[in-house]
Amino acid sequence: MKNMLLRFTLNGKPMEGTTQPNKRMLDVLRGDLSLTGTKEGCAVGECGACTVILNGEPVASCLVAAGQMQGAEVLTIEGMSETLIGSVLQDCFVEGDAVQCGFCTPGFIMTAYALLLKNPHPTREEIREAVAGNICRCTGYIPIVNAIEQAGIRILEE
Ligand code: FES
Ligand code: FES
Repeated sequence: MKNMLLRFTLNGKPMEGTTQPNKRMLDVLRGDLSLTGTKEGCAVGECGACTVILNGEPVASCLVAAGQMQGAEVLTIEGMSETLIGSVLQDCFVEGDAVQCGFCTPGFIMTAYALLLKNPHPTREEIREAVAGNICRCTGYIPIVNAIEQAGIRILEE
């Protein structure tokens, strides 16, 4: 397949480079751009560890092709921490013991970021639904739901 010139916005900055259109977005981010905060777990769209925000929606970057990034706004865990929602989420995850091994954490935080962007004060049920595609082997999920709920409350108070 022919290479393409890819132009997109990454964490608020314009990016341009040559790539294969069928290369996985996860490989563009982790391999080409050294943004290793985005994790690879299952590689088949089932664990949520590779979640990033593409045009405002959380996506599994292991299932997105580089060609689909053309002209898009992409936010990764590295850029998210510079936003208000992102920094509050990170604080609430740490304070609420929602991080153990940490492998799943970037994916959960990106999914939670997308939720809070649209729905700043979600119910616990809405939080559970939003993170249903993210897998955590360590925490039992309750601290994660608590942390996202707490972040929503704190953001409303800011
Ligand atoms: S690595 Fe993409 S969903 Fe698991
Ligand atoms: S904290 Fe270890 S997988 Fe979630």
